[in-house]
Amino acid sequence: MGKDVIVACDFSSAEATFEFLDKFTDVKPFVKIGMELYYAEGPSIVREIKKRGHKIFLDLKLHDIPNTVKKSMAVLSRLDVDMTNLHAAGTVDMMKAALEGLTREDGTRPILIAVTQLTSTSEERMQNELLINASINDTIVKYAQNAKAAGLDGVVCSPLEAGMVKAACGTEFMTVTPGVRFADGEVGDQVRVTTPAKAKEIGSDYIVVGRPITAAADPVAAYKRCVEEFVG
Ligand code: C5P
Repeated sequence: MGKDVIVACDFSSAEATFEFLDKFTDVKPFVKIGMELYYAEGPSIVREIKKRGHKIFLDLKLHDIPNTVKKSMAVLSRLDVDMTNLHAAGTVDMMKAALEGLTREDGTRPILIAVTQLTSTSEERMQNELLINASINDTIVKYAQNAKAAGLDGVVCSPLEAGMVKAACGTEFMTVTPGVRFADGEVGDQVRVTTPAKAKEIGSDYIVVGRPITAAADPVAAYKRCVEEFVG
């Protein structure tokens, strides 16, 4: 399994995205397109970035009834994305349906990963508002096990949870981890952060990095530093 750095393109327009991507001339980073950019520009943004030679993680976090998710995943698969995701809270049946929808006629499909509990959800709110009567860590592990049982490739989680997920689901089960900061960089609104080197040590397979690259004075140098620390 290839370790890689995924750059979160959290821009609100195609123009801003291309202005950023144009800086990369000798390397083509794996990029993440999230809801903001996708809802602003639609599927054409995926096709255009793909045409420029980038791998794409389409981060739309689907969560609906199995039939709707299956049909939607079939549409996303035809966009030729490399990775996409859904909420494990949609149940094992929904995740299985998603995989079916995603699988192309020739048997190939994008990597499919699940969100367990969003890192913005505290244990207190999960218990008091969602009435989930377990610890947040047990919930994360159980949702990861459900994702594995459904046949998914891995989960999105904090790098600090990656070890726990690997212990429960095996080292082959992928962990895709945001919340990465350089040791000498700004933390911003992220709370539980770690460095690219530490994420590598813990066993993340992909790190998702936004502002430490997008807001850097020299984004290409910041990207290369990330790759150097994480991939080596
Ligand atoms: O700018 P920054 O490096 O914080 O960007 C991290 C990216 O990862 C953002 O696109 C954010 O939405 C995403 N993400 C996250 N935490 C999660 C899931 C996704 O930061 N639990």
